[in-house]
Amino acid sequence: MTVVGVVPAGGSGERLGANRPKAFVVLAGRPLLEWSVEVLATVCDRVVVAVPAGYEAGPDRVKGGASRSASVRAALAVAPEAAVAVVHDAARPLLTRDLVERCLLELREGDTDGVIAAAPVTDTIKEADVHGRVLRTLDRSVLWTVQTPQVFRAATLRNALDVGAETLAAATDDASLVEAAGGTIAVVEAPVENLKVTTATDLRLAETLLAWRVPS
Ligand code: CTP
Ligand code: MG
Repeated sequence: MTVVGVVPAGGSGERLGANRPKAFVVLAGRPLLEWSVEVLATVCDRVVVAVPAGYEAGPDRVKGGASRSASVRAALAVAPEAAVAVVHDAARPLLTRDLVERCLLELREGDTDGVIAAAPVTDTIKEADVHGRVLRTLDRSVLWTVQTPQVFRAATLRNALDVGAETLAAATDDASLVEAAGGTIAVVEAPVENLKVTTATDLRLAETLLAWRVPS
């Protein structure tokens, strides 16, 4: 069964505000992107990366799309051999092989169409109106913050991504598109270290966490 890593790395990194796209910002000596591609390559048969225009040079790179999900679709499109897709954001450089393997195991042994890395919510979550007035407090015990990796049977993901550009742009993860197409999804608990680099503070945090890593 061919497992293909799909890495959306085509964003501009506006909130990080560096002088280059976020995936190419250097973290602990190498581009952000390389940290997760290296891990994925130990588990996947091939890793395809969707990059911003002008960064396509190199093997298995494709030009990203106008939205994150459009980038996922562009990368998946060049890997017709994929039976399973492991989607992982370049913006999460602290990915571990263990997490990818646990997601793949659950996909293989479970009965859902997709499996996603997620962390149980630790803060209290409230819903507020546009004026900041609290409407209700949600039951935290059933809430998860969703991350990547997200793994799917490739045919299921291709089908879910076969929607218009507006629907793709509105999706903040791939599982929600699979859910909208009627698919089922399971969560696998991820370590909190699997953070997403959005701001300059996140980049410093990621650097600190990498420095703390025990060599394996
Ligand atoms: N991404 C992508 N193609 C896009 C937009 C985003 O492949 N058109 C990727 C980013 O490169 C990132 C992941 O999707 O790895 C998650 O997106 P985000 O963290 O929002 O990154 P950016 O869009 O680059 O950042 P910002 O929103 O601050 O501009
Ligand atoms: Mg973005």
